[in-house]
Amino acid sequence: MEKYYHITTYGCQMNVHESEKIAGILSDLGYIACDDMESADIVVFNTCCIRENAENHAYGNIGMLKKLKAVKKDMIIAVGGCLPQQIGKADLLHKKFPYVDIIFGTHNLNKLKEYILKKQQQKKAVIQIEESEGAICEEDRPLRTSYPNAWINITYGCNNFCSYCIVPYVRGRERSRRSEHIFAEAKSLIADGYKEITLLGQNVNSYGNGTDDLTFPQLLEKIANLDGKFRLRFMTSHPKDFSEELSKVIARNDKICNNVHLPVQSGSDSVLKAMNRRYTRKDYLEKIELLKKHVPDCAITTDLIVGFPNETEQDFLDTMSLVKEVGFSSAFTFVYSRRDGTVAAKMDGQIPEEVSKDRIMRLVELVNENTRSQSLKYVGKTVEILCEDYDKKKDMYLGRDEYGRMAYFKSDKNVIGEFIKVKINSANGISLVGDIIKG
Ligand code: SAH
Ligand code: SF4
Ligand code: F3S
Repeated sequence: MEKYYHITTYGCQMNVHESEKIAGILSDLGYIACDDMESADIVVFNTCCIRENAENHAYGNIGMLKKLKAVKKDMIIAVGGCLPQQIGKADLLHKKFPYVDIIFGTHNLNKLKEYILKKQQQKKAVIQIEESEGAICEEDRPLRTSYPNAWINITYGCNNFCSYCIVPYVRGRERSRRSEHIFAEAKSLIADGYKEITLLGQNVNSYGNGTDDLTFPQLLEKIANLDGKFRLRFMTSHPKDFSEELSKVIARNDKICNNVHLPVQSGSDSVLKAMNRRYTRKDYLEKIELLKKHVPDCAITTDLIVGFPNETEQDFLDTMSLVKEVGFSSAFTFVYSRRDGTVAAKMDGQIPEEVSKDRIMRLVELVNENTRSQSLKYVGKTVEILCEDYDKKKDMYLGRDEYGRMAYFKSDKNVIGEFIKVKINSANGISLVGDIIKG
């Protein structure tokens, strides 16, 4: 009889890719993917805890399975990822949801097969969290679900300890994969027909860190020199480690997209200091200058946080003015969320919710305005889109240009995985709509 799995993923690209690794393990065990939890024999929640709402989202979804589990007793429910990796959270999950069968963390994802087999032998829940990160696993066989895009981990963990952030506590210390493994993976993905590769790390610019002969720009350029038509992206860059050398490498390699995600978080020096970001507003703007000098048509995106402890109206206005000054092509905006165990959680001066709400609304408006006006500049132009997907509701194909801008268009045949010339007719906020140029 066929057995089915269903995975729900929360959080960042890192987690999206890790769900592909989980899918690899499940398919090894003979499970087949399915779209709904009701049909699944195993349900996995790959969780995130970056902000309180990410956690609550997972709790809500796990809670909803109680009824299904009561009638489908043999169904296995597994909860993994960053949420249970937080100190004390695995026990809390077990108490809150006693019907969850397996709880595992970020450091032992590759042992999921063992845990499933163990659970099949025992009634008791299998709760396995490892405190330390252990050696990098090179044995995963991800079942990739994002063709024509493919993710490759280059580093794991983070050493930066930004004062608001839980990631260093749930992902451990920064480790870099050997460049030969990364290079071999990129090479085989391109040979398999993947058209876009994104190198992943919490801070890709600190790649190597004494454990590899190659620096990040060298590794990037080595991959960009592989034969074949493909795009190369990377995320995330920490501004403190973003170098002129990297800007030059982006400039001289066509395959590296002119699109850099450089999270600034705040435009105020006192907030940046309290966040332990280790750069000033001026340092950040200088990096942007350097990048624009070498790559004049670079689309720069960022992450912004409002409502960090003690953020004054003036600090917030400094963020607003920085957003105007840089002209980001888009930005992720967040309200600061207090995370237990971080340095900022113990700070006085937490900002009232209504103040943060007011600030986020003003910031989102500004960011959207920037994005809209940049989208409008596309109208009438022809761009090269890598087609990624088909939107059933809209009956349109979609994909992005090298700057990361999404475009929708009609096509009689399936063009997923192809580079397509599209003439843009209209802009709708962040996304564009156009027609294929035949020929
Ligand atoms: N390593 C990446 C980002 C990882 S988390 C980097 O340093 O840029 C993604 C984003 O979530 C961060 O850039 C930050 O803007 C946001 N974030 C992290 N912790 C947060 C918190 N406690 N509250 C609100 N936003 C947070
Ligand atoms: Fe978090 Fe800072 Fe590390 Fe990014 S660099 S993951 S924000 S601690
Ligand atoms: Fe979330 Fe963990 Fe990523 S906390 S943002 S899934 S590293």
